[in-house]
Amino acid sequence: MALWGGRFTADTSSMFKQVNDSLPFDQAMAAQDIQGSIAWAGALHQAGVLTEQEHQQLHNALNDMLSKAQAGELNFAASQEEDIHSFVEATLIEQLGDVGRKLHTGRSRNDQVATDFRLWVKTHVLSLQQDLIQLRRTLLSTASRYQHAILPGYTHLQRAQPIVFGHWCLAYVEMFKRDSSRLDDLLIRMDQCPLGCGALAGTTYAVDREKLARELGFASPTLNSLDAVSDRDFVLELLFTASTSMMHLSRMAEDLIFYNSGEAGFIQLGDSVTSGSSLMPQKKNPDALELMRGKCGRVFGALQALLVTMKGLPLAYNKDMQEDKEGAIDTVNQWHSCLCIASEVLQSIQLNEKRCRQAAMKGYANATELADYLVGKGIPFRTAHAISGQIVMAAIAEDKPIEALPLNTLKAICADIDEDVFTVLEVEYGINKRNNLGGTAFTTVTEALYREMERMDSE
Ligand code: ARG
Repeated sequence: MALWGGRFTADTSSMFKQVNDSLPFDQAMAAQDIQGSIAWAGALHQAGVLTEQEHQQLHNALNDMLSKAQAGELNFAASQEEDIHSFVEATLIEQLGDVGRKLHTGRSRNDQVATDFRLWVKTHVLSLQQDLIQLRRTLLSTASRYQHAILPGYTHLQRAQPIVFGHWCLAYVEMFKRDSSRLDDLLIRMDQCPLGCGALAGTTYAVDREKLARELGFASPTLNSLDAVSDRDFVLELLFTASTSMMHLSRMAEDLIFYNSGEAGFIQLGDSVTSGSSLMPQKKNPDALELMRGKCGRVFGALQALLVTMKGLPLAYNKDMQEDKEGAIDTVNQWHSCLCIASEVLQSIQLNEKRCRQAAMKGYANATELADYLVGKGIPFRTAHAISGQIVMAAIAEDKPIEALPLNTLKAICADIDEDVFTVLEVEYGINKRNNLGGTAFTTVTEALYREMERMDSE
């Protein structure tokens, strides 16, 4: 039976019921709803609404239900209840009769759902933090597996300057660190408990909201009842953080798909994260990575959908807000899976160090070094840039790398060039010169790697 049958005479349309019911998805918050109710029963007891005995009965029944929820033993499929809140209340009433009917005193599903959803987000943020930590660990161990490897660095997907493979890994470590810190920020900002705000205007009962907040693990209660039941910023922030992190995963996927291509051939993905073609027997497709990239669509969509849902809503609660859950639940699941699969992909890769090094030497990626060499000879950089460009043209005309041109040819373009230029043109030279903080020199990258490993140990 619905919670609100009193002022109705006709039945609910079955189509409306189907659209209106949220139990099929908000059952994901069963444990949080029961925890909230346990705290609320305590607050009502303290406020003198429930006797000691009534409180005990509710407390015991709710704790039993919590164990069942955690064991996955609540039978939602058989229920006709509208949402998780009415499901929990109806179950109590069935068990305890009138005592169950007292639990909703002074409370609304509006402050209840706001509390449940915050608790749900908090729990998932903590486990997503662990996923991000795991992925960072994997990136660090991947970097340590190939400490001597060189990779061509690209801009505009044109070979630009050679980098150390670990530098690429550490670039993604930085991105996932920022994602973690965004989750930390979110946790701080959302750490307020809406319970006790009622439908919109507050509660008439003398419940201790500070104590309620503490019991449910929040830092403090929310400060304005109207805002508390209308606010879904914490969901939006979660969706934005997930979107940003999925964008990072997608860029990593894109890099790896390219590195794995026949054309680049820098890495080989493991069988465990690739799949074959039903037609072409030779194929080994990077599906795990393509899905990491592809899942961005639905995650970005969930963020956009909730922004649009919220933007025109007058204060306070409106049923539109029930649309906040499915996108968030799906987003958390997809983000979690993608973080895990990204770790698996990285663990599976084999780097073809020889091919990477050869590729890094091609494409005139040492032209900047040549210009810097000329600067060392006293030539202004802009002029040096032009000379180096002319030399690249001469090399292209002969279909050779710069270092394969004889000294005479180089000297004919610029008399200041000497034999020592050939050391400068070696691939390691340019890399090791970039030893300033944040650069790609082997020593700098190794230091950065150890710094990150230490940071992880202290996290
Ligand atoms: N199922 C609802 C939701 O998810 C719970 C709140 C219902 N409140 C109401 N006044 N109808 O938003």
